[in-house]
Amino acid sequence: MKDSDTFTLDGKTIPFQPGDTIMDAAMRAGEYIPHLCHNPEFAPHGSCRVCVVEVNGRQVSSCTQPASNDLEVKNNSEELVQMRRSILQMLFVEGNHVCPGCEKSGACQLQAVAYYTGMLSPHFTHFFPRRPLDASHPDTVIDFDRCILCELCVRASRDVDGKNVFALDDRGIKTHLVINSPSGKLGDSEFAVTDKAAHVCPVGAILPKHQGYEKPIGERLYDKQPISVVGDVAANEDKE
Ligand code: FES
Repeated sequence: MKDSDTFTLDGKTIPFQPGDTIMDAAMRAGEYIPHLCHNPEFAPHGSCRVCVVEVNGRQVSSCTQPASNDLEVKNNSEELVQMRRSILQMLFVEGNHVCPGCEKSGACQLQAVAYYTGMLSPHFTHFFPRRPLDASHPDTVIDFDRCILCELCVRASRDVDGKNVFALDDRGIKTHLVINSPSGKLGDSEFAVTDKAAHVCPVGAILPKHQGYEKPIGERLYDKQPISVVGDVAANEDKE
């Protein structure tokens, strides 16, 4: 009889509690599984697929897969790392992620996970989509170029702020973030800079106005240690 419920992650024993996903238990045990759309404050979403692991030979997203006894989970096989790199490369070419000019550079989860997985180039041909900037709100700017469709702002606005300011529209490659307001502009919506939705973007798509490039290179969130040590952007917000 076992003292607690456990599974193995790359050979290490990971205890879990009832209701845990593989991601929940791994995070609690201090084991990093790369992820973008997951934020422990919100219900699992399972859309980015960066957190995919291999469980008893089958690929599943660790943020949605319930933990159960005696699972053998692989997190760092070369096949998984290569697959994550490809997903990240597709995200980079699908938007306009101009890291050297982005004020979120050095504190961006997409960039940090790309470094972590050893992504050295975009590999695919850039789409260079034309996406307008929304600077209509007095306190917040939205750069749709950087949106990775994680729906964290959608979930935060709906589930925490009770406002439904954000939604995804269309399908497939045409999927894009929209603002729920008469004009479609943020400044015309109920959004406030104090909303939870203003503070959950893992990239530089939703940014506060009146500040920028505040931390010099060398002092940014992921300058000294990788995301596997430092943790998510949202979890470090108060330190930023
Ligand atoms: Fe699990 Fe995005 S973090 S699918």
